[in-house]
Amino acid sequence: MDGIDALRGKFLDQISSAADPDALEAVRLAALGKKGEISLKMRDLGQMSPEERQSAGPVLNGLKSEIDAALKARRASLEDAALDARLKAEWLDVTLPGRPRPMGTIHPISQVMDELTAIFSDMGFAVAEGPQIESDWYNFDALNIAPEHPSRQEMDTFYMHRAPGDNRPPHVLRTHTSPVQIRAMQDQGAPIRVIAPGRVYRMDMDQTHTPMFHQVEGLAIDRDISMAQLKWTLEEFCRAFFEVDEVELRFRASHFPFTEPSAEVDIRCSWEGGQLKIGEGKDWLEILGSGMVHPHVLRAGGIDPDQWQGFAFGVGIDRIAMLKYGIPDLRAFFESDLRWLRHYGFAALDQPALAAGLSR
Ligand code: DAH
Repeated sequence: MDGIDALRGKFLDQISSAADPDALEAVRLAALGKKGEISLKMRDLGQMSPEERQSAGPVLNGLKSEIDAALKARRASLEDAALDARLKAEWLDVTLPGRPRPMGTIHPISQVMDELTAIFSDMGFAVAEGPQIESDWYNFDALNIAPEHPSRQEMDTFYMHRAPGDNRPPHVLRTHTSPVQIRAMQDQGAPIRVIAPGRVYRMDMDQTHTPMFHQVEGLAIDRDISMAQLKWTLEEFCRAFFEVDEVELRFRASHFPFTEPSAEVDIRCSWEGGQLKIGEGKDWLEILGSGMVHPHVLRAGGIDPDQWQGFAFGVGIDRIAMLKYGIPDLRAFFESDLRWLRHYGFAALDQPALAAGLSR
């Protein structure tokens, strides 16, 4: 039949050069659509003589299926190429690190512990630790607290349960960080300069007391340490911690079994307009207990009181955190209320800086 080869050549060319599915569909219509060239030729078969039809029919049918197959093959390869292009465009590196989502905050107590550790280590104090479950010897006797002292009573102190016949010495949840003084003296001897921040426990619960709270103990022993150095150390600490240049401390004579003489220390502050300001005003706020270490305590720590002397102090961490960050209710510290934690918490990168008082 005339022109069949030309037709085949033309459509096969167009099919292989069709660049996208639309172009390919146009070729299909031009060849096999209702009015396509091949379809029209098939229609002509009807007017042919039987002999002509017999030779032209198979040729045309062959052409039709050849073009059909070429169209299908081209469509498949265009689809493959489109998929490849899409995969390339939507390429995703699953090994990339994820975008960090800030979650959680540093609790104000942890923040304050970091701050005071930074300040005291700048003054040459190392950090010491002791157990929270403490023998009553370390918690009381070694600190010169007599057996009949009211703080030893079950009223204030959590005693660990002992089964009948258990002859181990009585243990308590430590009621203060002062027993770490004894442990540090036994471990390190004199001279010594340590602080011991940590948890302490007492049976008490109201707006300003919780059964668990935090203290930081301080201890400095050397040949000739006096109250003057105690005063300087505490003033320097308050200046740095509260970030005010002018701090005024008031030492009030007091009594602790483990120090002689003993002093409670108040800081000058003002409550004007309901806002607390440290370092000015006419009010005083008690922030810590302190004194010169009692000879009995030195001896319990294995240190000769005729050779060595020193000072000690104990600060309520929760208390000074409330003061510094204006947190009104102590109990909120330990309620794990997410809204509170987000409000009062610190960003992980908010590293404590040594404040004005120290970096002169
Ligand atoms: N341990 C005392 C308390 O829990 C605080 C204290 C007072 C500690 C005087 C000291 C000190 O080291 O010298 O209330």
